[in-house]
Amino acid sequence: MQPVLKTTESISAAYRVVDDFLPSNLAQDLRSSVDTHFAEPYKHQADTHQVWNYWFVPNRYTYLRTSPERILGHANVQRFLETLRSWSLGALGLGQISWPFLSLYVPGCHQGLHNDAGNGRFAFVYSLTLDARRTLGGSTIFLKDADFIRSRLRVPSSSEHLCQSIEPRFNRLIVFDDRLVHGVERVEGSMDPSHGRLVLHGHIRESGPTASGGLSIGLLSQGIRDAVSDFLDENLASASVCHGPLVVRFEISTSGTVTDCRTVLDRVIYENEAIADRAPLQASLVNRLERQTFPRASSPTIVTLPVTFGGPLST
Ligand SMILES: [Fe+2]
Repeated sequence: MQPVLKTTESISAAYRVVDDFLPSNLAQDLRSSVDTHFAEPYKHQADTHQVWNYWFVPNRYTYLRTSPERILGHANVQRFLETLRSWSLGALGLGQISWPFLSLYVPGCHQGLHNDAGNGRFAFVYSLTLDARRTLGGSTIFLKDADFIRSRLRVPSSSEHLCQSIEPRFNRLIVFDDRLVHGVERVEGSMDPSHGRLVLHGHIRESGPTASGGLSIGLLSQGIRDAVSDFLDENLASASVCHGPLVVRFEISTSGTVTDCRTVLDRVIYENEAIADRAPLQASLVNRLERQTFPRASSPTIVTLPVTFGGPLST
């Protein structure tokens, strides 16, 4: 019998935007640290203020960046990362978050178009930029996930049809597929750094299977290995031309059977087809896991399992 997929459209979304991402008090604390840092310029000291790296890479990057703990404090950066990791594990099933940069874009700063295919599965950009700022620009822009020529052969198009543009609003998180071609719109206006584009940013990747409940990951690893190995054998032809992460989450009952298995994330791209049906690969993995048995336990276990195609990330 063909398994019934329990999916929503968002599992294959190329990007996600989460407004009001951090608890308000933490977001305000982070912003206050920035405002304090830039206040009273005549009192600035070398060890506290000569910390910005003017990062200029011709045709690609023009902005200022630093290690965020120097401005925001280590504990608050850690709280941000823990919140992001928890969100990412729940929403994407990916749990490894890079230590972020804190970047500042004053007028003239921007990023040229590029991708970060080797750096992670997703990029994250969390904004501490003021909503009422005296600058324009600074939006994160990326080319839409489409075949531009073939999808618009007879349709005149301009940037809004080809690019997605997302403003750096305060306390907004943007997460997008690292393979998307992206950049940052040039900032114009006030030279006051408090009014610049200010973001924490980095990359997200898989952290291996995770489990919570009656069974530890050690007790589950053999069953997971068997199921994934069978799945890859059954889909050898597809798997060899695919790239990207497919993540499922399932529940194991106390008797060791899989009771609920669903896809959390599907960013698998077929290398040789502009559009490919993602459903068969998802269904095959779900179906194989539903036939797997695991050890008995005193309470149920929830497992999140990322499977990646196309080899490991290069960095
Ligand atoms: Fe980038």
